[in-house]
Amino acid sequence: MGGKVGVKRGHGQAPPTVGAKQPAAKAAEPMRIAKAIAHAGLCSRRDAEAWIAAGRVAVNGKMLTTPAQVVGPSDRVTVDGKPLPEKQGARLWRYHKRRGLVTSHKDPQGRKTVFEVLPPEMPRVVSVGRLDINTEGLLLLTTDGELARHLELPSTGWLRRYRVRVHGRVTQEALDRLRQGVTLDGIHYGPVEARIDREQGSNLWLTIALREGKNREVKRIAEHLGLTVNRLIRVSFGPFALGDLPEGTVEEVKRRVLADQLGAKLTEQFGLVAPEKLRRQARRK
Ligand code: URA
Repeated sequence: MGGKVGVKRGHGQAPPTVGAKQPAAKAAEPMRIAKAIAHAGLCSRRDAEAWIAAGRVAVNGKMLTTPAQVVGPSDRVTVDGKPLPEKQGARLWRYHKRRGLVTSHKDPQGRKTVFEVLPPEMPRVVSVGRLDINTEGLLLLTTDGELARHLELPSTGWLRRYRVRVHGRVTQEALDRLRQGVTLDGIHYGPVEARIDREQGSNLWLTIALREGKNREVKRIAEHLGLTVNRLIRVSFGPFALGDLPEGTVEEVKRRVLADQLGAKLTEQFGLVAPEKLRRQARRK
């Protein structure tokens, strides 16, 4: 399954940025206090609101009682008397999810989550989109919620590629028709690339690639073709591939590779390269 390469060659052209110094935590623009705390990587916005209600957050020495407060770069925010940490640039990991884990931070039904089984040295991360409980394979994890939201947007247009084992039979012609896109129960799925890889008893192995990231999209499309999915493995997401990453392990994407894949604008937005370094690069061009 998959190639050996963990990261596919990208089209961005930002030069290597290893060891880049990160910009400080100060909000570049005014933002609500809970967002500023979440941006600094301390917790989620919801947690920050709970901390404010518990009287743990102060702005310029004055304890807050409500999250309805906007802070800017010149404000001094403290949690339990300590200033917010310097904001680290976004970090990204490839993670090989196994079957049986839910991709959410808390599961109301008490099932094990991806986040409970990550190595203890991992910082707080969020996933880029979700995989269903029985889906395996590549899940991207990041320290930056805004980056996650950006990468999972359909408008970002990153291709998600799956290896799919289905019960039943289908022709390549029927799969080729999915290239026009398909509307199922009022939900439109854009162009789908699908091919038959091989037969295995009463099953078929297919490769299916699409760009949207809608709920249960592969299973719904398979059902539409009269097929039942009994194994689903995501093998790539945009420029990142599962490769031979062992199940249950994480591997960080090097900052310079991430910068290369995201391009200059997003590299600056997500703090992957110090602003001074970006200015030097722009002067050299
Ligand atoms: N499509 C699905 O049906 N499930 C997933 O987890 C991912 C894509």
